[in-house]
Amino acid sequence: MLPIVTIPNKILETRARELTLAEINSAEVQSLIDEMIPTMYTSEGIGLAAPQVNHSLRVCIIGKEAVKLDRKAKLPHDDLVLINPTWRKTSKKTNNDQEGCLSIPGVYGKVKRHSDIQVEALDRQGNKFSFEARNFFARVIQHEVDHLDGVLFTSKATDVKTIPKT
Ligand code: NI
Repeated sequence: MLPIVTIPNKILETRARELTLAEINSAEVQSLIDEMIPTMYTSEGIGLAAPQVNHSLRVCIIGKEAVKLDRKAKLPHDDLVLINPTWRKTSKKTNNDQEGCLSIPGVYGKVKRHSDIQVEALDRQGNKFSFEARNFFARVIQHEVDHLDGVLFTSKATDVKTIPKT
């Protein structure tokens, strides 16, 4: 379990850098990925980006529950590792829904996101792959790639509310 970085912290507002193939295959990055997955589950997140565990690198994890919700996704029903990910919208459709973030505990707000996107990334072996994502799955990817760009959902959200811990 890696400690989660919470606001305020500069790393959360810094653009993370891309990884080289040699770095992807390094023991350090492989173990970072291995530790990010249980860290996400223990923290009850549906996605986690490396800056949130204090590594300014373009790596993020998307939980398999988000993958599964997209029944058309041509991906294994497993946790998804995205390295150096990029995406583009494939339709004009957007949706406005509630988001939260492990790095901003107790804060929720509505964020408008693209409903249909095409994603390109490297997998944890450094192989390029691409896929389409829709709705909630696409939302989680956009939220995590924002983290890699140093962008927090609260900078885009409306109806922001804080739910105090009980
Ligand atoms: Ni987040």
